[in-house]
Amino acid sequence: MTVEVPVPGAAAVHTSRPATARVGMVGGGQLARMTHAAAIDLGIDLYVLAVHPDEPATLAGAITRLGSPDDLEALRAFAVEVDVVTLDHELVSDEGLAALAASGHPVRPSAAALLYAKDKLHARTELAALGLPVPPFAPVDTVEDVTAFATQHGWPVVCKATRGGYDGRGVEVVHDPEVAAAVLARGGRWMVEAHVDIAVEVAVVTARRPGGEHVTYPVVETVQQDGQLVELVQPARIAPEVAERAIALGTRVAEAVDGVGIVAVELFVGPDGAITLNELALRPHNSGHATIEAATTSQFHNHLRAVLDWPLGATSLRAPAAALVNLLGPEGPDRIAERLPAALAVSEAAVHLYGKASRPGRKIGHVTVLGEDAEVALARAREVADLLVGPGGRSTRSET
Ligand SMILES: Nc1ncnc2c1ncn2[C@@H]1O[C@H](COP(=O)(O)OP(=O)(O)OP(=O)(O)O)[C@@H](O)[C@H]1O
Ligand SMILES: [Mg+2]
Repeated sequence: MTVEVPVPGAAAVHTSRPATARVGMVGGGQLARMTHAAAIDLGIDLYVLAVHPDEPATLAGAITRLGSPDDLEALRAFAVEVDVVTLDHELVSDEGLAALAASGHPVRPSAAALLYAKDKLHARTELAALGLPVPPFAPVDTVEDVTAFATQHGWPVVCKATRGGYDGRGVEVVHDPEVAAAVLARGGRWMVEAHVDIAVEVAVVTARRPGGEHVTYPVVETVQQDGQLVELVQPARIAPEVAERAIALGTRVAEAVDGVGIVAVELFVGPDGAITLNELALRPHNSGHATIEAATTSQFHNHLRAVLDWPLGATSLRAPAAALVNLLGPEGPDRIAERLPAALAVSEAAVHLYGKASRPGRKIGHVTVLGEDAEVALARAREVADLLVGPGGRSTRSET
């Protein structure tokens, strides 16, 4: 766009702003905030549809339209302002996604792809039908259904809300019918699956263009506590042969769901090296956050490049090892701002704060450290996390 600005008494001053891509992201959380930082690098205007004016991306200066992801009118109006719509969360209704698609602007990933991230039962059913390795699972309506499944596969079982779960909410390891009854009584649709014997959890993060061209990052080793990712190491400390199979499976899943943008596939690796699929995300994912410092191209840059159908950036790592520790809101007062200078004194640590109010257990930022050695980097990242969220946060990052 070119704007002529007349200046009295002088020749016209010619100010110009180059034409720029406009990407719309539904949701203004930390993923949108970090995508905004990448958008700045690429001269892209990131628009976010945020519910509140104090969401992380809005606070960071993303162009904000206020509206609920449930409001079909707001979604339609948002879509027409941008070249392509993408999402920072899966909590857009099926009708909402249809409304976005009806705007005539590309929605990437598509509603069909997104369903794999929104609905765990759909994902399990479809990926099992392709012969991909998912744990035994079944939809359940009653305690009898859970008991019948457990009779076949053994207790404990894992009850999962088919929709709406995140950070371990809606995932319950259930040891007996009484607890199963209490879980089902919460309402909503549930499924049950066999409790997998997990040696290590890993994630495969792929960026995929509409035509299927893709790049994949080295496998990430993740540690969850109470179902929530608390720390990670990249590359994962697993045998190269296991890593190869993980990459092959992750990219196969990304292709099967026809994802566009970042596709993060969570995997369980058993003690014998067998790999089982957990869930997938069709957006930048916590397991990819270390790529900001650790990779040639971050997952946020590659997400933007992929949804715009631009060439993807290299995924090679810049250091032998990267470690990341999530900052979870501590019990008691939030003293992060006051503690930040002390944490920054650890000069090799990269601190990311999301601008979110602290609540106990809430993800409010992360710390990344690169190094020669994963253990050393992880110890350093934990140390900095402790400096920021205090010893209260320490118990949530027990020695793993
Ligand atoms: N079948 C299973 N067997 C053993 N552990 C499991 C099983 N399913 C899930 N878990 C554990 O629970 C964690 C959370 O499960 P899942 O990823 O399905 O939930 P979520 O709340 O949607 O997570 P996210 O925060 O990644 O969105 C897993 O990372 C794993 O540690
Ligand atoms: Mg998960």
